[in-house]
Amino acid sequence: MPGAIYAEGLVKTFGDVRALDGVDLDVPEGTVLGLLGPNGAGKTTTVRCLTTLLRPDSGKAVVAGVDVVKHPDEVRRRVGLSGQFAAVDEYLTGRENLQMVGQLYQMKAKAAKVRADELLEQFNLADAADRTAKTYSGGMRRRLDLAAALVVSPPVMFMDEPTTGLDPRNRQALWDVIKDLVSGGTTLLLTTQYLEEADHLAHDICVVDHGRVIARGTADQLKAQTGGERVEVVVHEREHIATAAEVLRGFGKGEATVEEHTRKLTVPVTGGAKLLAEVIRELDTHGIEIDDIGLRRPTLDDVFISLTGHAAEEREEGNGAVQDSKDQKRKKGTEK
Ligand SMILES: Nc1ncnc2c1ncn2[C@@H]1O[C@H](COP(=O)(O)OP(=O)(O)OP(=O)(O)O)[C@@H](O)[C@H]1O
Ligand SMILES: [Mg+2]
Repeated sequence: MPGAIYAEGLVKTFGDVRALDGVDLDVPEGTVLGLLGPNGAGKTTTVRCLTTLLRPDSGKAVVAGVDVVKHPDEVRRRVGLSGQFAAVDEYLTGRENLQMVGQLYQMKAKAAKVRADELLEQFNLADAADRTAKTYSGGMRRRLDLAAALVVSPPVMFMDEPTTGLDPRNRQALWDVIKDLVSGGTTLLLTTQYLEEADHLAHDICVVDHGRVIARGTADQLKAQTGGERVEVVVHEREHIATAAEVLRGFGKGEATVEEHTRKLTVPVTGGAKLLAEVIRELDTHGIEIDDIGLRRPTLDDVFISLTGHAAEEREEGNGAVQDSKDQKRKKGTEK
């Protein structure tokens, strides 16, 4: 039986940009799917198709048991959405924004007020509740928008980059809210650019690039594919880079990557902290002085390098001009 969010062969084009090129998803009820990918991968377009804001050119999507193309109104009644760009009413206060959402969903005024207060508290907005949203900082707007998506608890939720722009404390608070939500039975699809976030929250992860799912699995499976942890070493002398690379190669499960200007070498390993001690000893034996050494988990970049053989495209802020220039490149087919 298909899950609470199901998509098969979703295609969406904008002119000659193929934003979705056959996306397949299946999210079992009560679980979290992390949709991971770089700028322009097709994350938002996927969310917009699944929440009926966009009509796919072809393919099939069923959300909460309802076909999104055939019965969009029915789908809208069963899903909640927090978009990438906060959709709050600037001229209403935080509290009014939330109460308004409650009333749109036909909650009684009293119930809407109680729910608004709860959410303001949960999202650290209680102190600012009676200020108009136009006085809010970026992170506050983002939190208000997330709170608005949670006024009613729909069985299926979509969150597009929910933690982008949040400081660490608020990011943690949101992670807690999300965990609560899911333990209450909600099915969630969230998009993110951070493996670490998907790792914390998602049961399953789909990595998308150029409108296609290029890998799927649990965080552990993806990391294992990526070669597990990395040892990162910064050598003191530039002249030692070559020897250090040689030493690391002996410990690594793959080639060491070298960043000349920062004198940083990185190599995928398995073996954890014990191995780290051995690496330090071996470098010392070769007379290589180090400024820094550490063990770190794979990042999205590592996943990309190992999956596609090339790095994720440069991080671009979601601003039209930059995105446009990338589209131009894609249209001309000059992108690698
Ligand atoms: N309305 C639109 N008109 C034209 N092109 C679009 C439109 N919406 C999306 N695209 C293009 O489709 C591709 C996928 O965009 P999408 O917004 O889904 O990416 P994303 O993975 O959400 O990226 P980001 O991490 O930057 O939010 C991009 O090349 C984008 O420019
Ligand atoms: Mg997006």
